[in-house]
Amino acid sequence: MPELNTVVVGDALEVLRTLPDDLFDVTVTSPPYNKGERDRGWLVDRVVYDAATDRKDEETYQEEQVAVLNEIYRVTRPGGSLFYNHKIRWFRGRLIHPYEWVSHSRWILRQEIIWYRKIAANLRGWRFWQVDERIYWLCKPRFPGDTIGAELNSRHALLTSVWEIRPERDPRHPNPFPIELPVRCIYSVLDDRKGVVLDPYAGIGTTLVAAKLLGCDFFGIDISETYVAIARERIENAERERARVLEELELHKVQKTFQERKATGEWVGRFRPSRIYARQGVLLPGPEEK
Ligand SMILES: C[S@@+](CC[C@H](N)C(=O)[O-])C[C@H]1O[C@@H](n2cnc3c(N)ncnc32)[C@H](O)[C@@H]1O
Repeated sequence: MPELNTVVVGDALEVLRTLPDDLFDVTVTSPPYNKGERDRGWLVDRVVYDAATDRKDEETYQEEQVAVLNEIYRVTRPGGSLFYNHKIRWFRGRLIHPYEWVSHSRWILRQEIIWYRKIAANLRGWRFWQVDERIYWLCKPRFPGDTIGAELNSRHALLTSVWEIRPERDPRHPNPFPIELPVRCIYSVLDDRKGVVLDPYAGIGTTLVAAKLLGCDFFGIDISETYVAIARERIENAERERARVLEELELHKVQKTFQERKATGEWVGRFRPSRIYARQGVLLPGPEEK
């Protein structure tokens, strides 16, 4: 049994292999993307990690990712979730979709969420500007044959499958999560339960800080000593980040329940383009329906 509420320096796959089965409730993670650093464009060359290269033969990379996904599956308790952040990439014009390898893992793919980041990673004209990344919500069956999983509390399900969250800028790491992202993942599936949260590519510890502020236990791994030291410092001072967490939690509120809306003949769930987005990513009834 690992010591919880810690973050360790190490290789994700090697450390995962030392962990017991069925321990974690939720994993939120973003691996290195195999973007090839310096030989694939001037924007990508800035995404350089402290202690690892991001350049592998694509086949080897995908095999490793499937192995990591399957280890996370093993250490996840039945009914648990993995939110796996990745993006569509191109190599010499060929589109590489993360589903190519996610579908070879043991997980059940519950949903593909679009993370709308609002800024483009490519400024050339080869294709339309790519302003999105993907978050794969993956589930481990609760019991043999379970392909559906537990229903979300409607206060979370009212958020849409497009997450409009700006990327984080932090001089200490090239691409940390904005804290809203792991908060949304963890809070949506755990609701008010306190679970155990994992991030095997923890970077400077955003998922772990989110877990701590939501009252969960956590465990993190990163290959960089420098990032792990920063993660430990952030975890220690997690309270400084609570305001942004509370702002995200504000989005997980239902004004009226489905039953209340149905009783008064108000909107009961069909999407209409006229609907106004009064808060970030949340569907609220338009004026005609009030
Ligand atoms: C996309 S970043 C994750 C950032 C993180 N979500 C955060 O909020 O800071 C990927 C991380 O994987 C780490 N990494 C690269 N190869 C690794 C490996 N083999 N095992 C563990 N961590 C690794 C890098 O050091 C980097 O911090």
